[in-house]
Amino acid sequence: MAFDFIRADVNEQKTKSRYRQLVCAQIESSVVNTVINDNMIVINDKSYLNFSSNDYLGLNNHPLINQALQEGADKFGTCASSSSLVTGYHYAHQSLEDEICQWLNKPKCLLFSSGFSANLAIFNALGKTAGSHFFLDKLSHASMIDGAYQSNATVKRFNHNNIDHLSNLLQRREQSPNKLIASEGVFSMDGCQANVNELAQLAKAKQAWLYLDDAHSIGIVGSEGQGSNSLANVDITMATFGKALATSGAFITCDENLHDYLVNFSRHYIYSTAISPAIAWATKASISLAQKEQWRREKISELSELFTRLLADNIELITTQSSIHAIIIGDEKKALAVSDLLKKQGIWLTAIRPPTVAVNSSRLRVTICANHNTKDIIYLAGCINKAIA
Ligand SMILES: Cc1ncc(COP(=O)(O)O)c(C=O)c1O
Repeated sequence: MAFDFIRADVNEQKTKSRYRQLVCAQIESSVVNTVINDNMIVINDKSYLNFSSNDYLGLNNHPLINQALQEGADKFGTCASSSSLVTGYHYAHQSLEDEICQWLNKPKCLLFSSGFSANLAIFNALGKTAGSHFFLDKLSHASMIDGAYQSNATVKRFNHNNIDHLSNLLQRREQSPNKLIASEGVFSMDGCQANVNELAQLAKAKQAWLYLDDAHSIGIVGSEGQGSNSLANVDITMATFGKALATSGAFITCDENLHDYLVNFSRHYIYSTAISPAIAWATKASISLAQKEQWRREKISELSELFTRLLADNIELITTQSSIHAIIIGDEKKALAVSDLLKKQGIWLTAIRPPTVAVNSSRLRVTICANHNTKDIIYLAGCINKAIA
C-alpha cells in the first residue's frame, strides 16, 4: 500500500499512549439549563472548568475586542486579500505595528500570520550561511527548533536555563561574527522564566544577539504586560497574539536593518497572505486592555499562589511566576488516567505527553487565567490532590 508508514505511525502512537485526537469545543447554547462562564468549555454536551486555555488574561470574547473586530471588518474587511508586499498591507496593520513599537519601545515591528511562521522566518533569515551560529535553550519551542535546523546555521543547544553551559558554548565560537542566543521568555510547557537579564548581559559581552520567543510572556510579564523587554534589552522579540492577547497572528520586533532584510528576503513573510486587518484592528484593542488592566496580572499571581499552597506535598509541581503550572506525572498512561479522572469531576486538563515534552515527563499543564476565581482553584487543587494521591 502507498505511504503505509501513515497507518503504522498512528498505530504506534496508540500503543505508546501518545495518540492525539481533536476535540471540538461547542458553543454554550448547546448545553441546556447550564450557565457557561468564560472559564468553561463545552465538549460532547458536557461543560468543564477549563484549565488548559492560553487565554491567560481572560480577554477572549471581551466586548471591546469584539467591537473592534466588527469595526475593523467594516473599515478594512475580514481579509487582507493579498500578501503584504502586493496590496495586503493596510492601515490596520501599520497602526498595530506602531502601537507595538511604542509598547515595547522598539524601532520596528513586523506582523506574521502565526508564531510558528515568525519563528521559521527569523531562524531561516539569520541562518543564511553556515557562518551563523545559533545557541538555543534545550526547552525551546518546536517552531524555533525547526527553524534553526532548517537553516544553514550551525546549531547548538544549551542546557535549560544554564548560563554557564551557554557561556562555554559561546566561548568556543568567540570568533564567529554571527551569534544568536535564543530562548523562550516564559517556557511553554514548564512555565518557568528565562533569566532574561543574564542572557542579555552575556549576549552583549560575547557580541551575540539575543532572540526571545515571548509567546507566553506577552501580556503577562511587566507592569504593562510588555513581556521580556520590561526586564532587559532584547535584540529581537517574537510574540503571538493567540494567547494572552486573545486574537491570532504574531509579531517580531527588531532594528531597522533586520526589518528591511525580512521584508526583502523572508519567504515566510513575502509569500503569505497578510493577517486579517479586522484581527489587526481587534489586536490593538486587546493590547490597550492588556496595558491598562494590571488587575488581570495580579489576579493570576494571587490565584497561582493559592493553587501552589493548596496542592499536597507529594505532588511534583514546577514552581513559577507565570500562568503555567506543570504537574509532572512521568508516565504517559498515568498522565492520561489522571486527566480522565479530572474530566469526571468536571475539570478539563489536557495531559501533555512526548514528543511535546521529554520521555518520562508527561504532565498536567495547568493554566491559571484572570477569569478563574478562588472557588475554581480550591476545587481544582482538591480534585488533583485526590486524583494523584
Ligand atoms: C513558545 C511558542 N512559540 C510559538 C508558538 C506558535 O505560535 P502560534 O500559535 O501563533 O503559531 C507557540 C504556540 O503554540 C508557543 O507556545
